[in-house]
Amino acid sequence: MGASGLDTSVPHSARIYDYLLGGKDNFEADRIAAEQIMKGSPNLAVSMRANRQFMARMAGHVAREHGMRQFLDIGTGLPTAPNLHEVVQDIDPAARVVYVDNDPIVLVHARALLTSTSQGRAAYLDADLAHADAIMRSPEVRGTLDLSRPVVVSLIAMLHFIVDDAQVNAVIRTLLDPLAPGSMLAISTLTADSAPEEVARGVAGYRAQGIAAKARTREQVEALFGGLELLDPGVCLVHHWHPVPGRPVPADDEVFVYGGVAVKRPR
Ligand SMILES: C[S@@+](CC[C@H](N)C(=O)[O-])C[C@H]1O[C@@H](n2cnc3c(N)ncnc32)[C@H](O)[C@@H]1O
Repeated sequence: MGASGLDTSVPHSARIYDYLLGGKDNFEADRIAAEQIMKGSPNLAVSMRANRQFMARMAGHVAREHGMRQFLDIGTGLPTAPNLHEVVQDIDPAARVVYVDNDPIVLVHARALLTSTSQGRAAYLDADLAHADAIMRSPEVRGTLDLSRPVVVSLIAMLHFIVDDAQVNAVIRTLLDPLAPGSMLAISTLTADSAPEEVARGVAGYRAQGIAAKARTREQVEALFGGLELLDPGVCLVHHWHPVPGRPVPADDEVFVYGGVAVKRPR
């Protein structure tokens, strides 16, 4: 293991995902792990591409249709065009984004995530979602985002790595509590509803690589938004969330990721 805490002989979720998306920022252990998992779950790459496209559509939608200009993206992953700040700064160059991830290799590439417009801001924080309170108190969050104004918290394709629902709920509360009314929570996470057998094999495949993973039902994903008001169309398979008219979409049993966005209303 290097001084950075990076052990390239052990597969890691960020780099497996990068490989599945066709990226170059992965190591042999990640490629072997991804190929192994895909033996049981051949549509994993289709699902992950649909997820990445959901991230970009979600960010564009809330920026364009709801005027959101501040984003806290946790579990950012390796830079993959378009990155969230590129989507939202294309709509308003003054938009601000804080990226958070706990993978040392994402940290190495963070500079690529920090190419903000001069009018906007992008910051990177090396932190674990388990320490949500430290994230919310961090100089990166406090110095980049104005918490008296609405913020979108995005947890895209990362909650399935936290298997304990109580921990996920506590983390979400800690992230949302300090935020102003009008703030939003965007989630995408693994489900087995659309392809039970394939996803069971995929989850077992991740676990065999030492990576905890959990698939959640639609009801369980809706429950993660408890106390918030889900935006149209609610929780659905990610390729059905405000699809781009005319763009081909995969079949439902090829996509095992639910997505949704909800807003925090004034009490
Ligand atoms: C599958 S990738 C998703 C990347 C990006 N959000 C997307 O959907 O395109 C999951 C990311 O979450 C990060 N991650 C996993 N567990 C985490 C944790 N507890 N705290 C912070 N980041 C975490 C991984 O390092 C990885 O970069």
